[in-house]
Amino acid sequence: MRLSEKAKKILVSGGGGFVGSHLCEKLVYAGHEVTCVDNFYTGDRQNIAHLAPYANFQCIEQDICEPFSIEVDEIYNLACPASPVHYQRDPLFTTRTCVIGALNMLELARENQAKILQASTSEVYGDPSVHPQPESYRGNVNSIGLRSCYDEGKRCAETLFFDYKRMYGLDIKVARIFNTYGPRMQENDGRVISNFIVQALRNEPLTIYGKGEQTRSFGYVDDLVNGLILLMESPHAGPLNLGNPNEYSIEELARLILQMTGSSSNLVHKPLPEDDPKLRCPDITLAKELLSWEPTIAIKKGLEKTISYFASAVFSD
Ligand SMILES: NC(=O)c1ccc[n+]([C@@H]2O[C@H](COP(=O)([O-])OP(=O)(O)OC[C@H]3O[C@@H](n4cnc5c(N)ncnc54)[C@H](O)[C@@H]3O)[C@@H](O)[C@H]2O)c1
Repeated sequence: MRLSEKAKKILVSGGGGFVGSHLCEKLVYAGHEVTCVDNFYTGDRQNIAHLAPYANFQCIEQDICEPFSIEVDEIYNLACPASPVHYQRDPLFTTRTCVIGALNMLELARENQAKILQASTSEVYGDPSVHPQPESYRGNVNSIGLRSCYDEGKRCAETLFFDYKRMYGLDIKVARIFNTYGPRMQENDGRVISNFIVQALRNEPLTIYGKGEQTRSFGYVDDLVNGLILLMESPHAGPLNLGNPNEYSIEELARLILQMTGSSSNLVHKPLPEDDPKLRCPDITLAKELLSWEPTIAIKKGLEKTISYFASAVFSD
């Protein structure tokens, strides 16, 4: 932190999760007073254990669906199960967290006149008919499907954020996050990168849903965290896409991971899950223009770090 900058009181809801723990780490190392609030529904205490010795870090075990009070200057609202496996496990919990949890965080921001950033998602675009997706695209979302608890929950949270801005002049930010990967992803969360890496390291077949022609773009977690902090510091409310626009087909990704892990696994195909989007790629023109932000970590570099995390974290015993 520069001498001219004041340490801020920052709350990170979902700080015990994958993205949240990287965000807490960056903010703690910058000298801010960071409070992680998490109920550890999908998070892991191990993700933030290394921050415990820092006097400017604390963790409160708390469900954001229950209101609570704390003094803050900034709130990053990341609390929410994020992968289909976890958000579909208890869809009512997911909707409650997206909506009631967001309302509680907004009220807390209003009480403190704090800035608040919402971790929204590319899932608000549903199965998109526009490619790549700019922020102006309103999406193609099924309101009654298996993914709806998350997609519609996150859409409703965006509405709440903009209504708090319109009604109370709250300083809000909405980031639409695209697929992100990196160390501390959960081994069992069913996301494609963690699945492939774990299967490859175990020399088990890599599961490809559908033909593997569907494309995805993958952003490395450090790039995302930088984008979130830049957005919080900017005067812009968003919504703003944060992701990496380089696209890979699922099959290409599988082959790259096989090559990088030196695995002897083969590929198996299974049917596509319901409402699985065929294309997903951010248009990041706005983030480039408004934040001068763009991803800097190439897929090979990011995969190297992620593979070595899984190799030590998952296979150390
Ligand atoms: N990782 C991605 O690719 C991605 C993509 C788009 C959006 N996002 C968003 O970013 C945020 C973080 O995602 P992640 O990948 O780190 O997921 P994660 O599951 O690793 O982290 C979410 C954290 O929130 C906590 N949590 C969930 N419900 C809670 C509740 N009611 N009260 C308190 N804590 C609760 C969990 O225990 C966990 O620690 C989520 O809001 C997600 O929707 C992530």
